[in-house]
Amino acid sequence: MKQTCKNVYITTPIYYVNDVAHIGHAYTTIIADMLARYSRLTGSKTFFLTGTDEHGQKISQSAEQRGKTPKEYADEVSGKFKTLWDDFDITYDKFIRTTDEEHKLGVQKAFETMYKKGDIYKGDYEGYYCVSCETFFTEKQLIDEQFCPDCGKPTNIVKEESFFFKLSAYEDRLIKWYEENDDCILPRAKKNEIVNFVKGGLRDLSISRTSFDWGVKLPESMNEPKHVMYVWLDALMNYITALGYGKDNENMDFWPATSHLVGKDILRFHAIYWPAFLMSLDLPLPKHIAAHGWWTRDGEKMSKSKGNVVDPKEIADAYGLDAFRYFMLREVPFGQDGDFSQKALMDRINSDLGNDLGNLLNRISGMSGKYFDFKVTSKDVEKFHRKELDEVEAILDNIEEYLYNMQINRYLEDIWKVLTIANKAIGDYEPWAKMKDGKEDEAMALVALITNIMARISFLLESVMPEKIGKIAQSIGLEINTDTYTKILKNKELLEDITITKVEQLFPRIEEVLLEQAKPTDVSKSEAEKKSESKKVVEEPDNLITIDKFFETTLKIGTIVEAEEVPKSKKLLKLQVDVGEDKNRQILAGIKEFYNAADLVGTQACVVANLKPAKLMGMLSEGMLMAAKDENGLSLIRPESPKKSGTKIS
Ligand code: ME8
Ligand code: MG
Repeated sequence: MKQTCKNVYITTPIYYVNDVAHIGHAYTTIIADMLARYSRLTGSKTFFLTGTDEHGQKISQSAEQRGKTPKEYADEVSGKFKTLWDDFDITYDKFIRTTDEEHKLGVQKAFETMYKKGDIYKGDYEGYYCVSCETFFTEKQLIDEQFCPDCGKPTNIVKEESFFFKLSAYEDRLIKWYEENDDCILPRAKKNEIVNFVKGGLRDLSISRTSFDWGVKLPESMNEPKHVMYVWLDALMNYITALGYGKDNENMDFWPATSHLVGKDILRFHAIYWPAFLMSLDLPLPKHIAAHGWWTRDGEKMSKSKGNVVDPKEIADAYGLDAFRYFMLREVPFGQDGDFSQKALMDRINSDLGNDLGNLLNRISGMSGKYFDFKVTSKDVEKFHRKELDEVEAILDNIEEYLYNMQINRYLEDIWKVLTIANKAIGDYEPWAKMKDGKEDEAMALVALITNIMARISFLLESVMPEKIGKIAQSIGLEINTDTYTKILKNKELLEDITITKVEQLFPRIEEVLLEQAKPTDVSKSEAEKKSESKKVVEEPDNLITIDKFFETTLKIGTIVEAEEVPKSKKLLKLQVDVGEDKNRQILAGIKEFYNAADLVGTQACVVANLKPAKLMGMLSEGMLMAAKDENGLSLIRPESPKKSGTKIS
């Protein structure tokens, strides 16, 4: 958010429509909203983009599980995101959907341009794919030869014709960009990870798929109807198609982006692929890509299956939207992981908001009312309080720097230092004693000092807590706009005649956490939907499958006839399993730490018999043994009493 750039363009990731919004999504969106609001206040022309990412295999599968078409499903969930952001007063200028016609045309235009440039070629892709992360991996990158290194879920083997983007050709240019632009990736510690990754060598990127069709088609001119674009190519382009790229370029004067806000999970896509695509398109690169950390819940990773996902709407409804915004922005240093708990939120409300901020306003209104009939002037502030003004200004003169570096928590900490100066001044100067001593001018100067401090920080906090700061401003007769921002905050002018009006308690004290236990609520459901659901005897998780779907898996009793250790593998045993029709089915099982090869021979296990064969450490594995693992170790799942090899399990 450099002040020098007139146009400011701030983006959030576009969220996948296979999930409901939780505090993680709310976090990114709130940071972006705060920056956009502040930028508008300073007078910069600002464009703030958010939206939804709707194509790809993951969405297509989620839709299918729910018996919906991908578009129906995307419409529904995208609508829920939009409703939530509207409820939260998020000031986006555009909400983009990757199913928008204009977006699709823009992506095709970009593909065509990159192709003409010679950066795209046709080939065959062979490797692994994590549907959940929509990411390609090489065998070497996998965990235990099978699992996604990012999310831990099993990957699929992909072998299909594909178009490739010559990412490898951009290695040097990327490194040069990182080196010449100190703050292109924030926080800087994250930047080092990216630089090292790129220095380790980049492979060309597969950018089209043929095994499903829920995606943007390649441009007509390519005449490749089987191919749809890789969802990340499609998704990243949203940042320019939203500005009219490929159509009328209506808002392209906002390009390059000032800040792409992302979670650390997707930094690689934004810090490597995206700038490489942009170089290929001959477009300037974003000023900052800022990656924040991960929110956990009471110390645990949030996930739908654990049912511990924090519903931002429920929290905001209970504790107040502004308090929630403040908490999210204040609680963790940008880039680091943070933990959400109602207790921590409650503490912030009672101490930072209630004591330090809310009480200060009460004191202004109390003192001005009691001594001066709610009317004060700043005429003697400089005379008696130059020292305090200097202290405050020393802090505020440097405070925007924190925003440029995405250190929003430090920004807020410094505002609270200013509040401390104000609160302390009241104790130091004891205006009540001055009144007794007949030093009315000194008492008034003190009240006016505090009011002026309150005014200055109001400009800085409005973007964080728009509603509450609106009330504070109203109470001290302050209008918050770009002109007053310049006069009062930048040029340090003191308020003229001040008339105070009383306001209700802004942040009433909270004695106990307000929500019994955060339920795994689906935030984006309507009240009616929630009610009708609660009536159901069995609560339906949203990942139910039909019985037919279940029977797509062939489960059989297998007898292990041979077992040996795989050399050089910590986890793998190589087994020959009698599964009935096939007496020697080779299965590689990751159970070496828990079983002795010799002990397994002659025992039975449940076998998933119709898995696509996979190669693990160069050996074929044609099935999987079922097992369960907890903190006490791993056990194979076996029949209670021996069954004939090949007996079907149902
Ligand atoms: O990745 N803590 O979408 P997505 C903090 N469609 N932030 C979190 C979070 C958590 N626990 N969980 C999610 C995608 N987020 C792609 C993006 S952009 C061209 C395409 C936030 O729905 C965080 O911002 O999985 C993260 O980057 C984003 O949600 C991922 O959302
Ligand atoms: Mg995700």
